[in-house]
Amino acid sequence: MRVVRSINDMRNVIADWRRTGATVGLVPTMGGVHAGHLSLIRVAGEHSDQVIATLFVNPSQFSLDEDFDAYPRDEDKDLQMFGEAGASLLFAPPIEEIYPNGHVTKVHVEGLSSLLEGKFRPQYLTGVSTVVSKLLIQAMADVAVFGEKDYQQLQVIRRMARDLDIPTVILGAPTIREYDGLAMSSRNRYLSAAERPHAGRLFSAISDIARATAEGADPIPLCNAAERRLIESGFRQVDYITVRDANTLEQYRGPGTPGRVLAAAWLGKARLIDNLDV
Ligand code: PAF
Repeated sequence: MRVVRSINDMRNVIADWRRTGATVGLVPTMGGVHAGHLSLIRVAGEHSDQVIATLFVNPSQFSLDEDFDAYPRDEDKDLQMFGEAGASLLFAPPIEEIYPNGHVTKVHVEGLSSLLEGKFRPQYLTGVSTVVSKLLIQAMADVAVFGEKDYQQLQVIRRMARDLDIPTVILGAPTIREYDGLAMSSRNRYLSAAERPHAGRLFSAISDIARATAEGADPIPLCNAAERRLIESGFRQVDYITVRDANTLEQYRGPGTPGRVLAAAWLGKARLIDNLDV
């Protein structure tokens, strides 16, 4: 598997592929590769002939008090795993390739970026839509794949690509889970051995809410009770646990309309996020 570090080199490889008539899939990542990322590579491979994985820990989506420095970095291991899953190229640019001196442009999706995650991590979704719009424009792939685990991020990217007329088809891939339902995430490594057995409770909580809401129950008391139970079982803070309209992430409109349960909660140093279809 080849590694390129400049936009030009990536474009040259893509141009060679295009000359042979190949289609191209893109899987943007920040590394810390786990089975969830590998499933994104496989989904991209089902929809395109050549798959590019990108590896870039994007500083603009972290605030100063977040884990940019601690974020897992092991390029050799990531490269090997991407290759085994079927990627043919790794684009791993240095920071100055993506944000050269004097870079001032931001891409902000109004509304969607200010809800839920946006309330707790104000820079996160604008950082994501900025870097992902750049990667999409740089590669001009046929498809790009993102995990449903970061459901709000996926919705923001879909809206951004549509609003900016970026022709790449944005695909969402299902969340990959551990034995107890915990959604796979690079940040799960922040859980201590004592905390890990409790982590699956977030998935149990949203599963119960999704099931009862689908059967017509009012989600608000369900979410309030789930929040209390999570705190009783060792979570130190619940940022939100809520049922929203699956497309706009505004208020859920009730039975017969698309709904999504979304939650973010702290267990020790790990901020776990998860979501499920109603
Ligand atoms: O989900 C991620 O890993 C990142 O937010 C992404 C989409 C690669 C943008 O940096």
